Amino acid sequence: MSINFKDYIASVDNFPEPGIVFRDISPLMADGQAYAAATDAIADFARERKVDMIAGPEARGFIVGCPVAYKLGVGFAAARKKGKLPRETVSASYQLEYDTATLYLHKDAIQPGQRVLVCDDLLATGGTIAATIDLVERLGGIVVGTAFIVELTDLHGRDKIKDYDLLALTQYEGA
Ligand code: PRP
Ligand code: MG
Repeated sequence: MSINFKDYIASVDNFPEPGIVFRDISPLMADGQAYAAATDAIADFARERKVDMIAGPEARGFIVGCPVAYKLGVGFAAARKKGKLPRETVSASYQLEYDTATLYLHKDAIQPGQRVLVCDDLLATGGTIAATIDLVERLGGIVVGTAFIVELTDLHGRDKIKDYDLLALTQYEGA
């Protein structure tokens, strides 16, 4: 059965602030077949690149990346927000609209030379994924691709990560 992933993305006007259309993957997660189809598509992309690990940023990157890791029988590296990881970390900061945010990885989350696919639900400005890639690479990982359920093309996030193969299951231009 072929699935149109857009049928499972809810578009919510004026969230989290006026003028923004929020692309919500919750309906996809709620549908077992659609969630499995998205997982399978990303797992196929990862398998072709012979990955040893999946990495993803808190929180929605876990929803996308963890089932892919399970499907492939590889590990998952969780890039977490401030104050969550108890052992030694590396950190990378990125720009938010009016602020900066920081992501952290345990220093032993990735072994040097491991081939890593970095996953998230959504690519917007690309700050989150670029920070996650930076963390993986600083630990000696080889980022062999990035994968998203949704890409917001108007925000040109892919320009920040143009050295990497990219899979986006759906794309939205404008609102
Ligand atoms: C959202 C989304 C992506 C990121 C995309 O995460 O899940 O991770 O923004 O934006 P960017 O490409 O401009 O960086 P958010 O930080 O809202 O947190 P969450 O995943 O914990 O909900
Ligand atoms: Mg996120």
